[in-house]
Amino acid sequence: MKHSMAKKSNEARVKISPAKGRPMLNWVGKRPLKVVPALPAQHVETFDPSRDLGKKKPSDIWQNWPDGYPKGGLLFHGDNKEVLAHLLANGFRGKVNLIYIDPPFDSGADYVRKVELRGVKGTVKIEGEAYTLGEQIQYTDIWANDNYLQFMYERLMLLKELLSENGSIFLHCDYRKAHYLKVVMDEVFGSSFFRANIVWRSMTSSGFKGKKSLGKSHADLLYYSQNERFTYTPMWSPYDEEYLKRFDKKDPDGRRFKDEKIGSATSKETIEKLKAENKIYVTSKGTYRIKHYLEEAPGILIDDVWIDIRGENSQSLDLTGYPTQKPTDLLTRVIEMFSNYGDTVLDCFLGSGTTAAVAQKLSRHWIGCDINTGAIQTTSKRLQTIIAEQIKEGKKPKQKKLEGMEIDGENSPEPAQLGFTVWRVNDYDLQIQHNEAVNLACEYIGVERTRGDAFFDGTHGKKLAKIIPFNHPLTPLDLEELKKELDARPDEDRDITLVSLGMELAAQKWLDDWNRHRKGGAPNRIEVIELRTDPKYAGFIKHDPATAKVSIKLSNDRIKVEIKDFISPTIIKRLEMEQHVFKAKIKDWRSMVDCVMIDTAYDGKIFNVVLSDVPEKKTDFVSGGYSFPAPNGKTTIAVKIIDMLGEELLLTKEI
Ligand SMILES: C[S@@+](CC[C@H](N)C(=O)[O-])C[C@H]1O[C@@H](n2cnc3c(N)ncnc32)[C@H](O)[C@@H]1O
Repeated sequence: MKHSMAKKSNEARVKISPAKGRPMLNWVGKRPLKVVPALPAQHVETFDPSRDLGKKKPSDIWQNWPDGYPKGGLLFHGDNKEVLAHLLANGFRGKVNLIYIDPPFDSGADYVRKVELRGVKGTVKIEGEAYTLGEQIQYTDIWANDNYLQFMYERLMLLKELLSENGSIFLHCDYRKAHYLKVVMDEVFGSSFFRANIVWRSMTSSGFKGKKSLGKSHADLLYYSQNERFTYTPMWSPYDEEYLKRFDKKDPDGRRFKDEKIGSATSKETIEKLKAENKIYVTSKGTYRIKHYLEEAPGILIDDVWIDIRGENSQSLDLTGYPTQKPTDLLTRVIEMFSNYGDTVLDCFLGSGTTAAVAQKLSRHWIGCDINTGAIQTTSKRLQTIIAEQIKEGKKPKQKKLEGMEIDGENSPEPAQLGFTVWRVNDYDLQIQHNEAVNLACEYIGVERTRGDAFFDGTHGKKLAKIIPFNHPLTPLDLEELKKELDARPDEDRDITLVSLGMELAAQKWLDDWNRHRKGGAPNRIEVIELRTDPKYAGFIKHDPATAKVSIKLSNDRIKVEIKDFISPTIIKRLEMEQHVFKAKIKDWRSMVDCVMIDTAYDGKIFNVVLSDVPEKKTDFVSGGYSFPAPNGKTTIAVKIIDMLGEELLLTKEI
């Protein structure tokens, strides 16, 4: 004992750097985001049925909109890191008033969508078999702790730059990551701008309730503002039945009220004034009490515990079929309370497009982004339906007039836009989902998937394996990313297999240099399997595109489009795999088609949706026959057919 005491007093003092003044979370490989390359975006689709996108509104609700973009909703397909950088580089810095994000939860799950053919079960005969196409992975949510935090840290830093002076951000998460993300947000937004941790108890989350421990039935919405001043409109929810019973008395004119004791310090004058206003109730004993009318009671002020909004159930999910879809009521509350008419709302983990859909209904501008083709298609269909309805019914959004709002017409604002454009911040030319491609590639090449690693997809023998997205050949940029990742994992000594479709010449040179330095047995040698040229694997990328028989004719100044047949070899192959049907034959081609869109003056680049046929119910079919007035002069008619797996087929004809 004596010995150790003596030793302690002789110990040298170590220096510890002063704390930065706020707690900060650390993780392996934490690196700030200093510069992000801003890629250009490719405009791929326009939906503008009322030819409204270019127009300025009289109240000039577009004054904050950068010139380079059409005035309408913006839907981006790509990784949000790149999309947010693109927005920052193109005029949106400080222009977004409200951000809501619902990122993957670090739940360790693959989110799948059950894909089915259209039609009432049993009416579409596929050689007597059922007609489900099995599950399609929408996105993967498998992370190592550190990777997840780095991923979110980078997105949050970019989002802060986009947020306006009076703006707010809501991060939807749950018990799995809420407490880490709170600290990360404290660092990025400043802990003094933390406004609330909203607890949303969705009433249908009984799935979380376990008998062995406490059930988990709430989600957390972490809410920060950009500044001291921020947009906020208080709202009230209706009183419950129990409370309403207190309004048990009625005036002769029928108005219900409850009565309360008058404070002993109330002056005579005040009582006289209340009397004159008919606000005094005289009891049978002759005592005065004050009246509170039900019609003047606003309701219960909404605070940070929300228990009155239901989660999505499987029936409402049918609307989009997208896993993890959030209820529109939840987004309605966030958007109504924390933004104003004409503001810009952004969601860069858009999923089925709930945020965009609600923003559209509430007359806000919106920007959405998702990495998954299925999410973009689901959102696009959803917004097309909403806008078509707004045009058809001249429907006014349900919203009371807010103070300081300049609105034309009556008391509710016009929709902020009646159209949107779709952009790609990456060229996805191979029409298969990346996630699915990764799965297929892993199976084909023998890569063992690893759960819990956000960078590497798995292991290939003793090597770490990564599948480069099939939308581009391997480039030095991919290799630099890999190098960065390896730098952040100094103890990693395994070699690497990269799988790509093709490879840029510059990448080969980069690799040669890298491997040359590792000749003496140094770790992390990189081998590339190039699917396009590798004779062993070349069969993998054989992808039979869908085909269709479509007649496009001009007669009596009208154009007639008739789809006579549609075949998707991928769907057939899938049916064979899933249902073990040999040579599946589908009697009605329409069961394979999700929607049809037509552009009457296609320029070869941007698809203008002039006509869209999106059946609302899964049991309904597209019509297949369309007729519309012919535009003047020569034009190119383009017909886009999207099948139930999300593959797109584009057919054009000049007439
Ligand atoms: C929980 S879901 C969002 C659901 C959405 N709130 C709704 O109501 O449908 C998360 C979404 O984030 C998308 N996502 C994941 N990583 C992404 C990334 N790096 N860039 C863009 N989107 C991403 C996924 O594809 C998925 O659609």
